Amino acid sequence: MRANRFYVTTPIYYINDVPHLGTAYTTIVADALARYQRARGRDVHFLTGTDEHGEKVEEAARNARLSPRAHADRIVRQFKETWPKLDVASDDFIRTTEPRHAAFVEDMWKRMDAAGDIYLGHYDGLYCIGCEAYVAEGELEDGKCKAHGRAPERRQEPSYFFRLAKYQQPLLDFYRDSPGFIRPESRKNEVVSFVAGGLRDLSISRTSFTWGIPVPGDPAHVVYVWVDALANYVSALGGPGGELYRRYWPADVHLIGKDILRFHAVYWPAMLMSAGLPPPACVFAHGWWSVTGKKISKSLPATRISPTALADDVGVDALRYFLLRELPLGQDGDFSYESLVGRINADLANDLGNLLSRALAMVDEYTGGVVPEPDAAAATAGDETLRILAESARDRAAQAWEDLAPSRALEATWELVRAANRYIVENEPWTLRKSPGKEPRLATVLYTLLEAVRVAAELCAPAMPRAAARIREQLGLPQATQALWPKWGDLAAGLQVRRGAALFPRIDKEREQALLAKWAGGLSPSNATRALQGADRPAAGETGPPPAAPDGKLSYEEFSKIDLRVAIIVAAERVKDADRLLKLTVDLGGETRQIVAGIATSYAAGDLVGRRVIVVANLKPAKIRGERSEGMILAAGEKDALALATFDREVAPGAKVK
Ligand code: MSP
Repeated sequence: MRANRFYVTTPIYYINDVPHLGTAYTTIVADALARYQRARGRDVHFLTGTDEHGEKVEEAARNARLSPRAHADRIVRQFKETWPKLDVASDDFIRTTEPRHAAFVEDMWKRMDAAGDIYLGHYDGLYCIGCEAYVAEGELEDGKCKAHGRAPERRQEPSYFFRLAKYQQPLLDFYRDSPGFIRPESRKNEVVSFVAGGLRDLSISRTSFTWGIPVPGDPAHVVYVWVDALANYVSALGGPGGELYRRYWPADVHLIGKDILRFHAVYWPAMLMSAGLPPPACVFAHGWWSVTGKKISKSLPATRISPTALADDVGVDALRYFLLRELPLGQDGDFSYESLVGRINADLANDLGNLLSRALAMVDEYTGGVVPEPDAAAATAGDETLRILAESARDRAAQAWEDLAPSRALEATWELVRAANRYIVENEPWTLRKSPGKEPRLATVLYTLLEAVRVAAELCAPAMPRAAARIREQLGLPQATQALWPKWGDLAAGLQVRRGAALFPRIDKEREQALLAKWAGGLSPSNATRALQGADRPAAGETGPPPAAPDGKLSYEEFSKIDLRVAIIVAAERVKDADRLLKLTVDLGGETRQIVAGIATSYAAGDLVGRRVIVVANLKPAKIRGERSEGMILAAGEKDALALATFDREVAPGAKVK
């Protein structure tokens, strides 16, 4: 990377299709890389766009009964609308139908021509429109293109050729001298052996259709769509004379899918060498997503997941997190809704969401919501351990983002999130709060905890910009115009924190079922809406409880369905305008819940904090006086003299009661 600059690109997408999970993946990864680099204070340029010329697009326009231009405008609008909905913030969007693009394509052609690398010949071969490339007989399976499943057409046409063969040795030398050019490393060998196996000159013009950029000096030909498309990375910078070109070229990363590696790692650097321009620093080929085991394809509706619809269902942050975290960049992966829900519940609701709500609930309750001043005299080795871990997680996350390994960066981030959750259990702020003289220690624990939350939020920001902004806001921090890579200790005491709704609400069984049914397309709209809104009661006439056994006795199996857990009350307050109700925040060991309990006439809120109680943990959530209640606390006795069920020795929160 040139000092403090970072230029990242996605492929420009064909407009024979709308954005889908695969194209969204590349674009989200590129966006996260750009956000990380911006957080490091670098001058970032992030480019995406659309590839609008060529036979494939001409064919799609014909099918849509539109002119290629009208078809292009229509699909391009969908791309331009989709990316911001996924929180993709590119600095530029290039369309190959723009004049600025044609200008550089012509310039590049002339440069290559001037280098003696273009000649007029005749092509006779098999052409696959899906690939927009000639294919060799040996690359076919049963006479069909392996990637597109369609038989290529025999084409004979006059064509301009690029002397690719001349660049065999220069390319091999370049790969040797620039070991970071093709990544991941595992992909490099396949390119090197392809080139070492001998290169044939490349046909770079077409006469069989007209939807393209005319060849300079011979308008009977249009420039081959791949030559046209690859040029976008430079045309978007205004060409070699442009200010942006001087600032950003060569690109730091062309992020692409493995399907188009050969074009980027062989043809593109050879064309640039011929044109006298430096090649990009790195072409990174990521893996391929399938959907529940099937290749994403127009003919398989189940694979046609709309990324924006999915983001509407689970939240943009959750979708981005999943795509970045689930698959090490470079590997193939299979998308399944179950694993999406699993990650949301485990990593986002349980780990990160609970960390935030536990921390804020305690600060709210114990210090009136003010970030306390830590007291160095009250610090312990445990605080130091958390600080060291936070700094190491931050540095490992940074290294991983630099290495183009988002999933590793998020893994490191989650080590901090989990350590912060453990820190709560180990330090028991609710006990400190009740111990006279422990105020300095309580202040130090709460400060350390909030600082860990803040650092974790900043580390999450490249992947989940909204969650990071929410956490900043709840911590009372000003919204940074630019995310900043965190430094431990920067959190100022005195800020006013604010509790709020769950950052990542857990997807409970009922909602999961509803979502799965919706995604499978099998839910009637009324049921879907009700279930998706998380309604907690079955509608009249629908499934009620199973009939009780005739003698009223439960089998052990039935009893064991009740999930009783040990919980510690970490905060309690009166529910407004309700004499009998208290709103409790309980710690279930790794999970925080809000429970509304009718015990206000028997207990004062302040007496409850720190108590261990028994919670029915799998009770359907309900709304009581407008407050969400996610469980029930066991108690016995008359209404004004209730006694909470509790334990006669210490048990860990979350332990099962049996
Ligand atoms: N227009 C060319 C690229 C020209 S770049 C100078 C093209 N376009 S495309 O619309 O077919 O997009 C291909 C890219 O979309 C892949 O390289 C990859 O980045 C992304 N993906 C498409 N399907 C995908 C998956 N199933 N999984 C992961 N990425 C996928 O090729």
